[in-house]
Amino acid sequence: MNYRHAFHAGNAGDCFKHALLMLLLGALQQKPTPVFVLDTHAGAGAYDLNGEAAQRTGEWRSGIGRLLDDPPPALQDFVATVTRLGLYPGSPRLLRAMLRPQDRMACCELHPEDHAALRARFAGDPQTGVHHRDAWEALGALLPPKERRGLVLIDPPYEATDEFARLVEGLRRGQARFPGGVFAAWYPIKHRAPVRDFFAGVQASGIRDVVVAELWWRAPLDPARLNGAGLLVVNPPYRFDQQVPPILAALLDRLGDREAGGGTALTRLVDE
Ligand SMILES: C[S@@+](CC[C@H](N)C(=O)[O-])C[C@H]1O[C@@H](n2cnc3c(N)ncnc32)[C@H](O)[C@@H]1O
Repeated sequence: MNYRHAFHAGNAGDCFKHALLMLLLGALQQKPTPVFVLDTHAGAGAYDLNGEAAQRTGEWRSGIGRLLDDPPPALQDFVATVTRLGLYPGSPRLLRAMLRPQDRMACCELHPEDHAALRARFAGDPQTGVHHRDAWEALGALLPPKERRGLVLIDPPYEATDEFARLVEGLRRGQARFPGGVFAAWYPIKHRAPVRDFFAGVQASGIRDVVVAELWWRAPLDPARLNGAGLLVVNPPYRFDQQVPPILAALLDRLGDREAGGGTALTRLVDE
């Protein structure tokens, strides 16, 4: 396991993921009944953007660095939460900040250091469980939750060449155990070929009601560069199709360098 999220925290792909995650959890919380959140690849939970790792890549400068001053209206909630939490919040800390007293969260992280950091961060928190557990195994073991309503974030590092295939299988298994759950899976857009195969795998899996939100800040042609990011959502909430486009447009406007071929899309992959 070589991937360390500290090098990438707060980059454009993170801002895209985290802004949409807030929208998804907020939609589930429109009802007062309890919500369960599972973050299968949780990371360390908080990142010092002045620390060595973040400074070495500087990726955050073209992500959250471009939003902190004068955030556009569609990103105001996201940026206000980041500012309030201090260190750049990873997904578990961002989602934890939104939990109501009746909600619960479980996080899995395999890297020993990141797991230890996350465990320390949530020590004594009765609403949050931190597991040193394989994400793909957790999708079977921790689902379905007793709450029967919830959000599952699957955010793998894409180090392994078969990560997209594992993701399809993980989504299929998780969804079979928790059919009513909202599943969100982040994926990199480097070039289109692996993403096309991923979509074909999801379409062949039998999973219903799938949409994908995508943002690419330059034409996705160079397979060695992160040119964009996508979030595949199973069981998207009501009005997702109306709420997402302004967020994507604001992200493209601020995070892109107006390079040729940038764009956004919200696409239905599988019908309800
Ligand atoms: C992209 S990062 C997660 C970032 C985090 N979700 C966020 O938005 O702040 C992926 C994380 O998954 C962890 N990881 C990799 N393989 C895993 C597995 N099989 N089970 C659990 N965690 C894993 C890595 O150590 C890494 O911290």
